Amino acid sequence: MTVTIVGTQLGDEGKGALVDRYGGAADVVVRYQGGDNAGHTVVEDGEEYALSLVPSGAIRGKTGVLGNGCVVNPETLFDELDALHDRGLDPDVRVARRAHVILPYHRRLDGIEEEAKAEDGEAIGTTGRGIGPTYEDKAGRRGVRVGDLTDPDVLREKLEYVVPQKRAVIEEVYGLEAGAECDVDALHEQYAEYGRRLADEGMLVDCGPFLAERRAAGDNLVFEGAQGTLIDVDHGNYPFVTSSNPTAGGATTGTGLGPTVVGDGEVVGVVKAYLSRVGSGAMPTELDGGDHEEALASDIRERGGEFGTVTGRPRRIGWLDVPVLRHAARVNGLTGISLNHLDVLGGLDELAVGHAYELDGDVIETVPATAEQWARCEPVRREFEPWPDVDWDAVAAEGYEALPEAAKTYVEYVEAETGVEVYAVGVGPDRAQTIERVDPWERVD
Ligand code: IMP
Repeated sequence: MTVTIVGTQLGDEGKGALVDRYGGAADVVVRYQGGDNAGHTVVEDGEEYALSLVPSGAIRGKTGVLGNGCVVNPETLFDELDALHDRGLDPDVRVARRAHVILPYHRRLDGIEEEAKAEDGEAIGTTGRGIGPTYEDKAGRRGVRVGDLTDPDVLREKLEYVVPQKRAVIEEVYGLEAGAECDVDALHEQYAEYGRRLADEGMLVDCGPFLAERRAAGDNLVFEGAQGTLIDVDHGNYPFVTSSNPTAGGATTGTGLGPTVVGDGEVVGVVKAYLSRVGSGAMPTELDGGDHEEALASDIRERGGEFGTVTGRPRRIGWLDVPVLRHAARVNGLTGISLNHLDVLGGLDELAVGHAYELDGDVIETVPATAEQWARCEPVRREFEPWPDVDWDAVAAEGYEALPEAAKTYVEYVEAETGVEVYAVGVGPDRAQTIERVDPWERVD
C-alpha cells in the first residue's frame, strides 16, 4: 500500500520527521521530485541528520529511491552517502535512470539568472542548486539523464550538444566568462565516473517497474514530497516557485506508478502550525508590520529553528494561512493532516490565523491564481486563545487528550476548515514527540 506525504504550505513544514515516522511501517521511501534544494532534518535517538537529497527514510534502513521526477546532483548524493557511512549507517539508495542530472552549468546559470533578476528586484530567492535550469533542460529535451551517465558515448554526445549552448548564454547573453562548468572533457570524465559508481554500487533502477514489483510483493511504499504546495510550479505562487510538482500528482508522474496507485492509498498533508517562507514572494500573514510583530516573528523563528537547512537563511514567519490549507487540501486530495510545531506557539501572549483574505473589497477563502493578486490579499484575522508552554514530552507520552484545551481548539478548527482529519499532532522535532491519532497504514490496509 502507499502513503504519500506532501507539504501543504511553502516548504519546511517538517515533512522529514513524518516521513521518518510513517517510514517505520514502510519498506520503500521514494522521492518523486526536486533535488538537493530539499533540506530535511531527521532526528533519530537524539542524533540529527540534515539531508538535502537522500530520502529521509533511508536512515532507518529502508530502501530510499530518487524517482524519475527528481533532479540529481551526483556530487551531493555521494557526499551525503559518504557522510552517512562515516556515521555508521549503510543506506540503501536507488536512483531512477530517467531522473535528470544537475550539472555544474545548471548551478552557475541558477546563480547568474538570480543575480540578473535581483538587479530589478525580481529575484526568486532560489536555493542556487541549479534546480530550475535542470528542469528547463528536461522540458527543452536537452537534459542529461542519470541513465546517460553509464554510456560514455551518449554522455559525450549530449554534452557536446548542450555545453556550447550554455557557454553562449553565459558569454553572449550575460557577458560573463564561462569557466570549468563548460569544459566538456572535464565534465565527461567526472560524470562518467559518477555513472560507474552508481552502476558498481547497484544503485540504478527503472523506477516504475522497480516500485511496481515491490508493491506486488506486498511492500509498503511512502512517496515523499519535497517543498510544498504553494511552491508547486503549477499550483503555487508562480513565478516564486520551484520548478517541479511537489503536490500529490507529482507522485505519479515522478515515480512511474499511476494515479490510481497513489489515490488508492493515503495522502497526508504536513501543516506547520504557523507559516514560514524562504525566498521571495507574497505572504499575506507575514509578521512584518512593525516592531511588535517583528519581535513575535523573531521569537517564533528562534524557538522553531526557522533557518534554512540547505542555505542557513532565516525564514520569514507568519500566522497560519488558512486559505493556503484549503487550496492544499483540494489540490492534493488530502486524506489526512499532520499538524506540527504546536509546541513552538506555546506560551505566546497572542495567537491568530489568517482565516480568509480580503481582495479588492471581496472576502475570499482560497488562494487566487496570480502572484499579483495574492500579494494584494489582506488577511482576515481570527484570534485564538494562546496555549501555555507545557511539558511537551509528557503530553506526547499521554496522547491527544493531554494537549492544552486551547491547542485542541486550534487543531479542531484546522479540521473544520479543511474538511480533513488531523491524523497526527507534532509537539517537538523527535519522532517520539508526535501524537498519533490515526495511523494511515491501518486506513489503507
Ligand atoms: P529552487 O527550488 O532552488 O529553484 O528555489 C525556488 C523557490 O523554492 C525559492 O523560493 C526557494 O526558497 C524555494 N524552495 C526550494 N526548496 C525549498 C525547500 O525545501 N523548502 C522551502 N523552500 C524551498
